[in-house]
Amino acid sequence: MTMRRTLVAGNWKMNGSRTESAALLDGIRKGISAASRAEVAVCPPYILIPLAAEKLAGSPAVWGGQNLSVHKSGAYTGEISGPMLRDYGCTYVIVGHSERRTLYGETDAMVAEKYGAAQVAGLIPILCVGETLQEREANQTEAVVARQLDAVLDKHGIGSFKNAVIAYEPVWAIGTGKTATPQQAQEVHRFIRSRLTARDKTVAESTRILYGGSMKGSNAKELLAQPDIDGGLIGGASLQAEEFLTICRAAD
Ligand code: PGA
Repeated sequence: MTMRRTLVAGNWKMNGSRTESAALLDGIRKGISAASRAEVAVCPPYILIPLAAEKLAGSPAVWGGQNLSVHKSGAYTGEISGPMLRDYGCTYVIVGHSERRTLYGETDAMVAEKYGAAQVAGLIPILCVGETLQEREANQTEAVVARQLDAVLDKHGIGSFKNAVIAYEPVWAIGTGKTATPQQAQEVHRFIRSRLTARDKTVAESTRILYGGSMKGSNAKELLAQPDIDGGLIGGASLQAEEFLTICRAAD
């Protein structure tokens, strides 16, 4: 009885030449059906966003960024802002990906700021949360995910989740080929939704929670069949049109 529209979002990370990306975008455009019930998005590197906008304009697919600055404009060398992403037609922006958190020192507080900056710019944040292997083995999964989630909930309120997406990405499953089992993922997705429900049941029912971490054509269907898994955030498997389209079809 849920009204949540499944979302399959490709996170290209730092991959793709212009030529490769043009071919990938053409392949996606050709392969997605206008009748698709699932929503399809790609998040290329900043520099390839104009190409995505050009190639996907008028198709059912949308595009987004992988990160954004907390500032709108100004003396922030090397940064890209939410309004700039919006100007290029971005719908989504990934916020707090584990690679940003671990490799670039993004704290829960910074991630919460970026989440707010995205919404102010008219972008839908895809807020990433997830535990490391060490944290899972220490039975810290729920505590870590709750902490990451509460940083945003406390700053922006449950109402902000009417226009946001959450991605549960166990760090140990990202790029490792070690996918969480559907049961492992569902357990954490249900926990995340219950955390939202405690603040507002209606919002919790409408918020999409994606799974990310080695999702691919061969395992997408059983993950997406779980009641609280509303789509996928796809890294490696989003770099080949056929593989990505297989996931999109599984989501349909
Ligand atoms: P993966 O990456 O699908 O390559 O594991 C997912 C992500 O990091 O968003």
